[in-house]
Amino acid sequence: MMPGTAGRAGVARTSSYEELQRALQGLLAGERDLLANTANLAALVFHSLPALNWTGWYFLRGAQLVLGPFQGQPACVRIDMGRGVCGTAAAQRTSLLVPDVHAFPGHIACDAASRSELVVPALRADGTLLGVFDLDSPLPARFTAADRHGIEAAVRTLIAASDCD
Ligand code: SME
Repeated sequence: MMPGTAGRAGVARTSSYEELQRALQGLLAGERDLLANTANLAALVFHSLPALNWTGWYFLRGAQLVLGPFQGQPACVRIDMGRGVCGTAAAQRTSLLVPDVHAFPGHIACDAASRSELVVPALRADGTLLGVFDLDSPLPARFTAADRHGIEAAVRTLIAASDCD
């Protein structure tokens, strides 16, 4: 766990996202490779924030999302746009914070341990959809607005620092 995450049990405080941003800037310095940078963000978040069982990327390929770099259990490889939490966030191009995945219609259970989920779309500088960054937790209602804003900022930082063609 990162220093500064000792707030409410299992929930990161906003200050931890300032530290996450600093750590991310360090990882991205001098490196614009998208695969390397997305892999490192998945690992950084997985090992920095408490109570996560999966973090990773799905990239838009045609009409589907395809699994990218991740940490956690092996996951489903292809998700149709509009399906599950990831496909819905991608189709709507908006972050989704799902406190109870069992109550989300069409949720795709890759890891039965997952109880709540945060999915953040990644948009290129030209506004096109690169994919989504997905965080899963074994705790119900693990994610807050602070998590949403912190992860959205991290994704924006990564996109600006990487070649996204
Ligand atoms: N639960 C996601 C699928 C991806 S996994 O959780 C890794 C969804 O419903 O889109």
